[in-house]
Amino acid sequence: MAHMALEMTESLEERCNRILRNMEASLTARDRVGIQDFVLLDAYTSESAFLDNLRKRFHENLIYTYIGTLLVSVNPYKDLDIYSKKQMDTYMGVNFFELPPHIYALADNVFRTMLAEFNNHFILISGESGAGKTEASKKILQFYAVSCPSTKLLNNVRDRLLLSNPVLEAFGNAKTLKNDNSSRFGKYMDIQFDHQGGAVGGHILSYLLEKSRVVHQNHGERNFHIFYQLVEGGEEDLLRWLGLERNCQHYSYLVQGDCAKVSSINDKSDWKTVRKALSVIEFGESDIEHLFGIIASVLHLGNVKFDADLRGYAILNNNPEMHWLSKLLGIPTQVLQQGLTHRKIEAKAEEVFSPFTVDHAVYARDALAKAIYGRTFNWLVNKINESLANKDSSRKTVIGLLDIYGFEVFHVNSFEQFCINYCNEKLQQLFIQLTLKSEQEEYEMEGIEWEPVPYFNNKIICDLVEEKHRGIISVLDEECLRPGEATDLTLLEKMEEKMGGHPHFITHKLADQKTRKTLERGDFRLLHYAGEVTYCVVGFLDKNNDLLYRNVKEVMRQSKNAIIKHCFPSTEPDSKKRPETVVTQFKNSLVGLTEILMSKEAWYVRCIKPNEGKQPGRFDDVLVRHQVKYLGLMEHLRVRRAGFAYRRRYEIFLQRYKPLCPETWPNWKGTAAEGVQCLIKHLGYKPDEYKMGRTKIFIRHPRTLFATEDAFEVCKHELATRIQAKYKGYRVKGDYLRQKEAATKIETCWRGLMARKERERRAWAVKVIKKFIKGFMTRNQPACCDNSEYLTFVRQNYLTRLRENLPKTVLDKNTWLTPPPIMQEVSQLLRKLYIRHMVRVYVKTITPQRKAQLQLKVLTSSMFKGKKENYPFSVCRPFMDTRISEEDINIKVLQTIQHEHIKYSVPVVKYDRNGFRPRLRQLIFTQAAAYLVEEAKIKQRIHYNSLKGVSVSNLSDNFLILHVTCDDIKQKGDLVLQCDYLFEALTKLNVVASKQSCVKVVQGSVRFDIQPGREGFVDFKSGQESMVYRAKNGHLMVESTRTKSR
Ligand SMILES: Nc1ncnc2c1ncn2[C@@H]1O[C@H](COP(=O)(O)OP(=O)(O)OP(=O)(O)O)[C@@H](O)[C@H]1O
Ligand SMILES: [Mg+2]
Repeated sequence: MAHMALEMTESLEERCNRILRNMEASLTARDRVGIQDFVLLDAYTSESAFLDNLRKRFHENLIYTYIGTLLVSVNPYKDLDIYSKKQMDTYMGVNFFELPPHIYALADNVFRTMLAEFNNHFILISGESGAGKTEASKKILQFYAVSCPSTKLLNNVRDRLLLSNPVLEAFGNAKTLKNDNSSRFGKYMDIQFDHQGGAVGGHILSYLLEKSRVVHQNHGERNFHIFYQLVEGGEEDLLRWLGLERNCQHYSYLVQGDCAKVSSINDKSDWKTVRKALSVIEFGESDIEHLFGIIASVLHLGNVKFDADLRGYAILNNNPEMHWLSKLLGIPTQVLQQGLTHRKIEAKAEEVFSPFTVDHAVYARDALAKAIYGRTFNWLVNKINESLANKDSSRKTVIGLLDIYGFEVFHVNSFEQFCINYCNEKLQQLFIQLTLKSEQEEYEMEGIEWEPVPYFNNKIICDLVEEKHRGIISVLDEECLRPGEATDLTLLEKMEEKMGGHPHFITHKLADQKTRKTLERGDFRLLHYAGEVTYCVVGFLDKNNDLLYRNVKEVMRQSKNAIIKHCFPSTEPDSKKRPETVVTQFKNSLVGLTEILMSKEAWYVRCIKPNEGKQPGRFDDVLVRHQVKYLGLMEHLRVRRAGFAYRRRYEIFLQRYKPLCPETWPNWKGTAAEGVQCLIKHLGYKPDEYKMGRTKIFIRHPRTLFATEDAFEVCKHELATRIQAKYKGYRVKGDYLRQKEAATKIETCWRGLMARKERERRAWAVKVIKKFIKGFMTRNQPACCDNSEYLTFVRQNYLTRLRENLPKTVLDKNTWLTPPPIMQEVSQLLRKLYIRHMVRVYVKTITPQRKAQLQLKVLTSSMFKGKKENYPFSVCRPFMDTRISEEDINIKVLQTIQHEHIKYSVPVVKYDRNGFRPRLRQLIFTQAAAYLVEEAKIKQRIHYNSLKGVSVSNLSDNFLILHVTCDDIKQKGDLVLQCDYLFEALTKLNVVASKQSCVKVVQGSVRFDIQPGREGFVDFKSGQESMVYRAKNGHLMVESTRTKSR
């Protein structure tokens, strides 16, 4: 296993370790809680060790213990908190040995094996009365109800399965001395599952209802629950309708045990549960009415009293019960009365009614009560089966639950105990066959070495009871059917005759001295596999005959109660042919049951009763030891220890586990046995862990199998993942291809769309271009439809371009986009507008000082523009307020002229009128006159009135000649000056003196007055250099360089 663990994934390894740890932990904790699987018990052959373990665990409330896969359960007689939903969840899908033993673990294991192998199973729950069989079967059912898949439909089935229980228990269970809820019938229930594990239906078989209880109960016992439930819990209306009173003491069938009321039973609430359950399992109102009519009529029947007439025959005098019986059974009173007091005898062709004695009438009445109840019970089971039936014909698997009465040993044992114990004998036989014997046989068949396990084969007892012609049943039937006076004692004699000498049979007569003391004369004793049981033969014949007179059956056939009518069919075999005796019927039903069970895989729950007092916490060693013995637990354990826990046919084993080995997966080519060999070699099984049989592999310990199973679980997931991945890949690829196709389609459509758009766009463009060309060609024609758009475009285009190419400054006169012909006029208008606009903008920005300056410049321009050669150079030179500040004018001069307000001063070079010597002077303009000043001396004052004019040349020199009126000879003549700020000075003079047109621009030569009557000349010419000199002709020659106009 170690190799295998290594090859498993991490988590599996951990899981294996955990299981091992669990097992080891259970070993180390054995002193306290014992061990949870008897297979691990050291002294596995010791009954005491077995008992010790059971006791230890019982006292720790650990009521469950395994023997391999068999579950031993000890009744705790108290509620343990181990059946919650949480517990169910814990046990769901977990391997058997991983958790502490539990009935849920077994149920889950059965369920999962069934699903995995798709075969049928049964769980045999056995144990003596009160050991907890019914409780165990209910727990299993509840587990399936919770753990199985659920749908609305399945839930419906589940509810019916669950609720069939309280109904069957009400009609078939009763309080006995041993158990307050003792099942008085055997029950086998099939739960049918679909292939997904959904519970889809069920079927119930019932065995040998203890009918005698209807008419008689031992002290401390009760009749069937339903009677008390009806009387205690039935609604007032219902009771009135049934003619019942709410008092059990009124009914003789309910008081014989003298314990109608039991503290552990709540009849009222049970009644409610049953009523509700009946509706869930589809009992109609009329069914329910008839059913309770029958229950009530049984109670009425019990109260029927017979009087004796003079001859001692039974008569019914004004019996009030008869009225109710007649009403409830729907049979005329007279007919009923006749049936209860007479017997029909057929003699030849005649029919004679023979009256009953009182005792006989009571016997017949009780027989009728039993028959009615017994047959109604069967009807009830059938009715429940109808409700549980699954109509779907698809294949199902089945888990059967067999809750059958356990071995019974009372102080006085009668026919019922004989039947019950015979049943247990049969089941033990089955158990032996299925486990011990078949185990040995299988080993032999498989050629596996077998260490023989001694066990007691109870076949000898079964044969004693059932063997044809020789068995007790045959003798019993013979006595019943034999003509003549057969009695219980003649039966005993017959038995002694036939069975005398049988090691398992003794009677008073056959016994030795010592044993005889323990036997009564009418007793016989059987040595059952579980122990000795002494039966009292009294009543055997009667009970076996279970006679119901033919005329009573006929009376019942007339009933208007549908259930009674159904239970006493007219097709019933005629009286001439005797019906099968009870024991034969029972035997046959057991044969049927054995067949049912033999075809399924068996699982066992062995219930043990810890004490007789129904007390929690009390473990009666003697009682338990006895049960351990007759339940065959020690034998079972021995087989488990000697043998192999698990075996499977090679094919099945290989099929299941082949994914665990690369060589066997996915297909093994050789034989299944070789495949298994290869597989377990790969898994690393050790030689002592397994054996290879002829057709099967045998695995010794469950843990080996569980480790394999765990590995398989993991592997399954991996495989599933791989398959899933492949499938997903396949799906995604498909999706991808579809998407690709779709994408191509969309692309094609899109491209088509785009191409169509492009075509439209081009067509449109062609149209536009054509129109454009036509427009271009006809652009000079008057506007028409051909060129209108073109012209609009041209206009728009021109305007747009114009906007982007406007002149940036006012002075920029050249920039203006050449307009297309049609825009000529507009262009001119726009240009003007724009220039004006620029001017406006420009004007808005100039300051008053600048405005004054510009005004002066305008004045200068009007005077010189286009006239004097160097004028353009002056334009850019701004004018100043003055060129000589007042501080630089001599104070004396200032004092002299200040009152005239100095407006402007400028340095000049004065040329003497005679000789033309240059002298630096200041020229000062006041409001009244112009002064030529040399330092502190005013050299010449020229009143503006006397200023005749100013001459300048047209060339680029700076000479100006001020002409003054010169009447007086003493007065100085005209001034010849050179001034660097010629234009500025003349403009200022012009403004100050208000002499607008006094400046004259001359060419060539200026005449000036040296003094009145004496003239001089200044000649101007352009030359290479600027020079001033006296020419030979006596003129002042001013030569200036020619300037290029800008
Ligand atoms: N697991 C349990 N937990 C608690 N109490 C239990 C358990 N099993 C049985 N009991 C108690 O024991 C009583 C008897 O159990 P149950 O009716 O199952 O016995 P039985 O084996 O069916 O007997 P019979 O053969 O008489 O039908 C129950 O009513 C219940 O009180
Ligand atoms: Mg029971």
